[in-house]
Amino acid sequence: MTNHFPVDRKLFDDVMVPNYAPSTVIPVRGKGSRVWDQQDREFIDFAGGIAVNCLGHCHPALVGALKDQADKIWHLSNVMTNEPALRLAKKMVDHTFADKVYFANSGAEANEAALKLARRWALDVHGAGKTQIIAFNQGFHGRTFFTVTVGGQKAYSDGFGPKPGDIDHVDYNDLEALKAIMSDKTCAIMIEPLQGEGGLVSPTQEFIEGVRELCDQHNALLIFDEVQTGVGRTGDLYAYMGVNVVPDILTTAKALGGGFPIGAMITTTELAKHLKIGTHGSTYGGNPLACAVAEAAFDTVNTPEILNGVKEKAKRYVAGLNAINAKHKVFKEIRGKGLLIGAVLTEQYHGKAKDFLNAALEEGVMTLVAGANIIRFAPSLVIPDADIDEGLARFEKAVAKLAK
Ligand SMILES: Cc1ncc(COP(=O)(O)O)c(C=O)c1O
Repeated sequence: MTNHFPVDRKLFDDVMVPNYAPSTVIPVRGKGSRVWDQQDREFIDFAGGIAVNCLGHCHPALVGALKDQADKIWHLSNVMTNEPALRLAKKMVDHTFADKVYFANSGAEANEAALKLARRWALDVHGAGKTQIIAFNQGFHGRTFFTVTVGGQKAYSDGFGPKPGDIDHVDYNDLEALKAIMSDKTCAIMIEPLQGEGGLVSPTQEFIEGVRELCDQHNALLIFDEVQTGVGRTGDLYAYMGVNVVPDILTTAKALGGGFPIGAMITTTELAKHLKIGTHGSTYGGNPLACAVAEAAFDTVNTPEILNGVKEKAKRYVAGLNAINAKHKVFKEIRGKGLLIGAVLTEQYHGKAKDFLNAALEEGVMTLVAGANIIRFAPSLVIPDADIDEGLARFEKAVAKLAK
């Protein structure tokens, strides 16, 4: 019998590797956009597990899919395929530019696969030497050593010894800098079609189209990291659809499983063929439980009602945040797209985003930060309007406490 002895936050410091600094709140259950902690305090969830819980907590379609699959088969590994993986892949192919899918377990792993595919394609098609990967300052692509090195914050990749080579960075939205650094030695560009961790920065239309053109000009692959923006977050199934620029490879995770770990890399048949048998793989990638839940999440999100709803709810959020700001004057800008929203603090409050997050938690609303100056919101895509309003009212109380 499993012994479920009582636990508290102190135990984290005793038994966990100290690479995280979790909140003192330990949530124990959730329903929709509400969460309850060990003391039964209730919170409204504007964080969504960092843009993961696209349908809130314990959505009946996801719980149903998980329970149903749990009674059938849990794991096979890739020595055999399985029905949920094939169904999910077919749906992803039918509703995107892609023809082929590779399943992983996280965003970083999906990106690792994308980068390895790009390098192998370049070697196969263009020979040795076409190895340059270009990415963007402040970009974030995961924590494996390849992906964290491609990410645009050296602080995250320094201190682990020699890094994977031939990776360069330029500023986001700086087409001239990109032009200057690109050549026929460029293998791929990896870019978020809206920088998430980096501060909710949208690309200009000219920039994102320019990136595609430069890739075509130099026979380089365009990889869109849609780990944070994918599966409805911006109001389109994938953000590339909203900017009308089609990548060669796209990665997706987070919301794909609605809270169950899964990631995927999707691409064209022409490119996919370079990941031949044995070139890459994962024990858990395409796990039946994960794919069954993801299939239900994909079906539920990929409807005009939900996607249009994201755009409507985003307007409600932005209007609410602007109203808070009209009173308290703490934000210099509200930005982002769909339900990936950033409230940028004025200079006076620089470095204080975490204080706002903590004050909000005290008032019963969970938020996120993106760096030290931005409060980030990534709620459920189906959050009821009443929860948006009540959550913002709680958030305003926190703002009022901190505003001078
Ligand atoms: C754009 C982007 N790419 C990749 C990742 C890494 O995903 P994971 O933590 O699932 O490895 C993240 C996580 O925040 C992300 O926002």
